[in-house]
Amino acid sequence: MRLLIAGGAGYIGSVMTELLLQRGAQVIVYDNLSTGHRRAIPPEAHFVEGDLADRAALDDVLARFRLDAVMHFAAFILVGESMEVPHRYFANNVANVINLLNVMQEHGVRRFVFSSSAAVYGEPAELPITEECPTLPNNPYGESKLMVERVLHWYDQILGLRYASLRYFNAAGASAPYGEDHQPETHLIPIVLRTALGQQEFVPINGTDYPTPDGTCIRDYIHVLDLAEAHLQALAHLERGSVVCNLGSDRGHSVREVLAVARQVTGRAIPTREGPRRPGDAVAQVASSQRARHLLGWQPRYGDLTTIVGTAWAWHQRFPKGYQE
Ligand code: UFG
Repeated sequence: MRLLIAGGAGYIGSVMTELLLQRGAQVIVYDNLSTGHRRAIPPEAHFVEGDLADRAALDDVLARFRLDAVMHFAAFILVGESMEVPHRYFANNVANVINLLNVMQEHGVRRFVFSSSAAVYGEPAELPITEECPTLPNNPYGESKLMVERVLHWYDQILGLRYASLRYFNAAGASAPYGEDHQPETHLIPIVLRTALGQQEFVPINGTDYPTPDGTCIRDYIHVLDLAEAHLQALAHLERGSVVCNLGSDRGHSVREVLAVARQVTGRAIPTREGPRRPGDAVAQVASSQRARHLLGWQPRYGDLTTIVGTAWAWHQRFPKGYQE
């Protein structure tokens, strides 16, 4: 198989590329390196530096390589940032994906795996969240993912595109060589581990007055290697039709619980400072991943939070400066 991985220099895209290569696929990474890292691209992949807004460059790549499928990991991902610059989110996360889909269409590439998000649900009325729950995003990031899902639905119905829309909950953890390195970092687990390494003075807790048992937000953390595995299974499923499904561990953990696990894993104190709520944050998001288990045969292997934080800690210790020289 030959695949194009848009955003293959990013956190999840690099782990996906690594796994595809291990399974014998040929991978073309297409990335503009705006948030990704050249050093996160596995050396066996063919790298094309390019932007999804650049139709001519995309057309050139799809003309040069006969592709079996495309996976998209090239989105902006920050809920808080999307509340400040929504136009950037709709341009990159929606318009650029449509660009990619239209060039695929012109070249007869009809299989697409899309990184969607739990953010499409907004504040759920009940937990766990199934795919039948209403999709009511409470920030432009989630809205941008939902908009692409609707586009995919119509491309399937009318143009014969086969797609998988995978609604990730909170991706976390690392493979041995590839981990999470965003600049600036806003995600909880890497911030906690950078604080454990002494690179940051304290972990800000974004809100302590939420209606949860300990007052902090609850999320469902899922290992990045389990996510990558689900993409392979989703790709196989496309032979039978398109699919939309959640990918989570089906367990919720509060911010304070993540801190407790990280203190245990690292053996470090990890100071915190309580602060205000972050705009756009949902109170609690926990998946039901039953559909992925039944339809795809997905079985997360790195399910518990101690394992997830442990793999992230191993990566942060091995690469304390991340991908920087
Ligand atoms: N948090 C803190 N302190 C920090 C960082 C985060 O308290 O320093 C809190 C957040 O406010 C939130 C929780 O920890 O309550 C998790 O926050 P993250 O930023 O790690 O993750 P999010 O849940 O905001 O968002 C992530 C991805 C999105 C994805 C979403 C799915 O960034 O792309 O999960 O729910 F859509």
